[in-house]
Amino acid sequence: MDERRPGYCLEAPFYLSDEFYRRDIDAVFAATWIFAAAAAEVPEPGDFVTIDIGDYSVIIIRDDDEEIRAHHNVCRHRGARLLSETNGSVGNIVCSYHQWTYSPEGDLMSAGVQAPGFDRTCFSLRSVNVRVVAGLVFICLAHNPPEDFAEVAQRISPYIQPHALNKTKVAAQVDLIEHANWKLVMENNRECYHCEAGHPELTCTFFPTYGYAPDEIPKRLKPAYQRYLDAEERLRVNSERNNLPTQLIAELSGRATGFRIERAALDGKGESYTMDGGAASAKLLGELDTPELGRLSMHTQPNAWFHFMGDHAVTFSLIPLGPDTTRVRSTWLVHEDAVEGVDYDVENLTTVWVKTNEQDAALCAKAHRGISSPAYVPGPYAPTESDLEEFCTWYIERLQAHRAQTDVQQA
Ligand code: FES
Repeated sequence: MDERRPGYCLEAPFYLSDEFYRRDIDAVFAATWIFAAAAAEVPEPGDFVTIDIGDYSVIIIRDDDEEIRAHHNVCRHRGARLLSETNGSVGNIVCSYHQWTYSPEGDLMSAGVQAPGFDRTCFSLRSVNVRVVAGLVFICLAHNPPEDFAEVAQRISPYIQPHALNKTKVAAQVDLIEHANWKLVMENNRECYHCEAGHPELTCTFFPTYGYAPDEIPKRLKPAYQRYLDAEERLRVNSERNNLPTQLIAELSGRATGFRIERAALDGKGESYTMDGGAASAKLLGELDTPELGRLSMHTQPNAWFHFMGDHAVTFSLIPLGPDTTRVRSTWLVHEDAVEGVDYDVENLTTVWVKTNEQDAALCAKAHRGISSPAYVPGPYAPTESDLEEFCTWYIERLQAHRAQTDVQQA
């Protein structure tokens, strides 16, 4: 990792080896804040989702006071996995082995007959750090989670709050198993160099000029760039009237919690990720007065990206399942009062990203297969791929930080 060549893809073992997969779990996924779910996925007390990260399993559950909690999915008796389903609803969390019963808050409520002196309060579920940011649930498995997350939360909240995710519901959710290392999936997401050739549905609305400096726009993209400038002007007016921050913040490396957020125009009708750019849901989010608000796009290292529009939001999160397998979860959120078949149609809502994700999965699988060849040598990133360089820099920083911490612990 100390010999990484800046501006170039990583060496093959980073993508292929079991050793780096295990290291990625320890140094990245168990050490940083990761996006786990939208709060709308657990709308009622007792609603839960589970998320498996390497050998860890975490329960995210809304408690009786409507607070979202996170617990290790491990019984305090003899360690059985408590909840096997990926989501559902419970009154209490009951271990199916010997029926130890925990409240959604994680307190041990009953444990059958125990020896004299048994103290239930000593056997609450082990908690996991959790923080809800404007309706997005982040967790951190580390004992001492990165402290800079609080500052990131404070900076991104004003961008997301107007979309009122706390008043949304899940309209659709799709899990895609990709046959590629998780870093290839992230790298693919951090550039749109491949979009023109690879994403016909996405480029109905996503300007193909993304990533180009104004003076580097290729001639064939000049008409699209002029449409982009016009759409940006309309977006500026609409954003100002709705008090929406639009300024780009890009701090993807050099800090434990890397992130990027900006509001940008969409092509077509400029309203949403649909085939014609028109709104997919008739009920706008929050108090927004127009659907023509482009896309508020956010990335958070290491595992998530988001698009918030006037009419709906989409969250994407990935979890590595092995060196060559990654789960990508896409979740579409619409206003909680929107009625399917009346205000929105699921196919219209989801088509662009369902197709785009499938296309990306095929491209990432090709990349993984190519890198598996002994003939692979890392190639250079193009200027439009600067976010990939940021991602790889951040990733190496995390490995180095973890190594330094491990060295201190062993000394
Ligand atoms: Fe859970 Fe025994 S392992 S009750």
